[in-house]
Amino acid sequence: TGLVVAMDGPSGSGKSSVSRGVARALGLRYLDTGAMYRAMTWWMLREGVDLADPAAIAARSGEPVIVAATDPDAPAIHVDGVDVGGPIREAEVTGAVSAVAAVPEVRARLVALQREVVGAGGIVVEGRDIGSVVCPDAPVKIYLTASAEARARRRSAELAGTTVEAQQEALARRDTLDSTRKTDPLSMADGAIELDTTAFSLDEVIAEVLRLVKE
Ligand code: ADP
Ligand code: CDP
Repeated sequence: TGLVVAMDGPSGSGKSSVSRGVARALGLRYLDTGAMYRAMTWWMLREGVDLADPAAIAARSGEPVIVAATDPDAPAIHVDGVDVGGPIREAEVTGAVSAVAAVPEVRARLVALQREVVGAGGIVVEGRDIGSVVCPDAPVKIYLTASAEARARRRSAELAGTTVEAQQEALARRDTLDSTRKTDPLSMADGAIELDTTAFSLDEVIAEVLRLVKE
């Protein structure tokens, strides 16, 4: 069976960029599980589901058909056939996603879908619970971190019309929600190696992960 690299960490730690770079270098597939939670959230918002009501979210969580493409050079995500790659990065979805991701029925459905995509392996999988829940047997588990300020700086450099301060506040709120929820909170998995990326370039982090994979 093929290699599985599990990549977890908080928002802005570099998971997506590092995972894509590693997948590209090793000829592996790439799965962004956060995009799946965002896609579920986009659908719930479109359907007008009350996101303050976990039971309402749970009741509808089986409906959307979510399909993730796994080419690291062309990651894409579709919901009921609609390409939602753009809208899932907008503030409305970003502000709502932690509430949807906290619902156990949502997690059960998406984890099952993620395991289907992982299949026999040959993939880099990034998210919050990959090393702990989705792929606990992955031979390589990385936990990426960076200072709150560095993560906010990176995010605000990507998004137009936002400040570092506003990003730092939004990230802190999401970190708290993600690490205190009852079902599979963000935490470091058994056997994971922590990499603090604050003082390193993207290429340096990718090189370090490639070195760990080859060990
Ligand atoms: P995550 O998926 O963890 O939210 P991303 O991969 O989206 O993080 O990274 C956020 C931004 O930070 C990207 O624009 C990326 O290029 C940049 N970035 C990632 N890692 C580093 C690093 N080590 N040094 C500087 N910038 C980085
Ligand atoms: O890109 P960013 O790091 O900002 O977030 P993301 O990876 O797109 O994930 C968005 C949200 O989905 C997170 O804040 C979590 O609430 C949730 N998520 C999760 O619960 N479990 C995962 N495996 C991935 C994401």
